[in-house]
Amino acid sequence: MNPSLLRTGICMLLVTAAVNAFAAAQGDAKRGEYIAIAGGCVACHTASGKEAVRFAGGHALKTPFGTFYGPNITPHPQAGIGRWSEADFIRAMRAGLRPDGAHYFPAFPYPSYTKIVDDDLKDLWAYLRNLPPNARQNQNHDLQFPFGFRFLVWGWKQLFFTPGPAVSDAQAKTPVARGAYLVNALSHCGECHTPRNFLGGPKRDRFLAGGKGPDGKGVPNLTPTKLKKWGDVELKDFLTTGITADGDITAESMGEVVTNTLSRITPEDLAAIIAYLRSLPALPDEPR
Ligand code: HEC
Ligand code: HEC
Repeated sequence: MNPSLLRTGICMLLVTAAVNAFAAAQGDAKRGEYIAIAGGCVACHTASGKEAVRFAGGHALKTPFGTFYGPNITPHPQAGIGRWSEADFIRAMRAGLRPDGAHYFPAFPYPSYTKIVDDDLKDLWAYLRNLPPNARQNQNHDLQFPFGFRFLVWGWKQLFFTPGPAVSDAQAKTPVARGAYLVNALSHCGECHTPRNFLGGPKRDRFLAGGKGPDGKGVPNLTPTKLKKWGDVELKDFLTTGITADGDITAESMGEVVTNTLSRITPEDLAAIIAYLRSLPALPDEPR
C-alpha cells in the first residue's frame, strides 16, 4: 500500500474514533439554524416551486456526470433521517459515509463540510432534529455509466478528499481566519469557484481561480486578480443583492448562494469573507 493511501486510512480511523468520542453534550438548535444558513443547506435539499417543503429534498443538481437529487433531511423516520443518531450525522458530514458505510457522492459538498468544527456540527444536527418531519420520498439519482457506482467514490476520496476538521481556522478570531473558515468549510465557495479536473477533483493549485463550475458553466475567479477592481462596498452590495455595479443580475446558482446565505449572515461574517478573499494569492484566470 502506498504511504499516502495508508495516511488517508489512518486519518479516516482517527475521524471515526473522534466521532465516537463526542456523543456528549446536546447542540443548540438556534445556533444551528445560523450554521444551516451559512452552509446553504436549503438549496440542494429543497425542490423548486412554491409548494416545496424546506429540507424535504428533491432539488435537481445537474452535473457533467448526471443529475443528483438532494435527499429529504427532515426527521421523518422512513422518508428522511429520523432514525439517525448524532454520530451518524457527524460521520456523513465529516467522512462522507452513509450509516451503512456506503460512500456519498461528492455532489454533497462534504469535501468542504468535513472542515466544519464539532460544535457547529452538533448545533446543525440539533436544528435539523427540530424540523417538522416530512414524508416526501427520495428519488434515485440519474447518473451516467459508470458514475453511479458508489464504490468508485472510494477511489475518488483517496485522490481528492482530506478529512477535517479545520480546528485552527475556526478557533482563530481574526476576520481573515473566520473568513477562511466560512469560505472553505461552511459556505463551500470552492465547490463552484475552484476548477476541477476530468475526474471532478478540485485543482488545489487553482483554489478559487474560477473556470468551469460543477454544472459545466463558467464561474469567475475570486482571487484578487479580478476582485481587486471591486471596492469593499461594491463587493458587499453584490454579495447581498446579486446585482453588480453595472446592474447585471447574477446567474441562478450564485443567486441561490446570495439568497440563502450571503444576504442572511451577519455583517461581521460578510466582512470576514471579503477580508479572506482579499488575502488570497492572485491567480490568473483559467484558460478557456
Ligand atoms: C450542492 C448541493 C448540496 C448542498 C449545498 C448540501 N447538500 Fe446535503 N446532499 C446533497 C446530495 C446530492 C446528497 C446525496 C448524496 C448521495 O446520494 O451520495 C446529500 C446528502 C445529504 C445527507 C445524507 C442524507 C441521506 O439520506 O443519506 C445529509 C445528512 C445532508 N446531505 C446534509 C446536508 C447539510 C446539513 C447541508 C448544509 C450544511 C447540506 N447537506 C448541503 C447535496 C447537497
Ligand atoms: C453553486 C455554485 C456557487 C457557489 C457555491 C458560489 N458561487 Fe459565486 N458564483 C457562481 C457563478 C456561476 C457565478 C457567476 C455568475 C454570473 O456570471 O452571473 C458566481 C459569481 C460570483 C462573484 C462575482 C465575481 C465576478 O467577477 O463577477 C462573486 C464575488 C462570488 N461569486 C462570490 C462567491 C462567494 C464568496 C461564495 C461563497 C460564499 C460563492 N461565490 C459561492 C457560483 C457559485
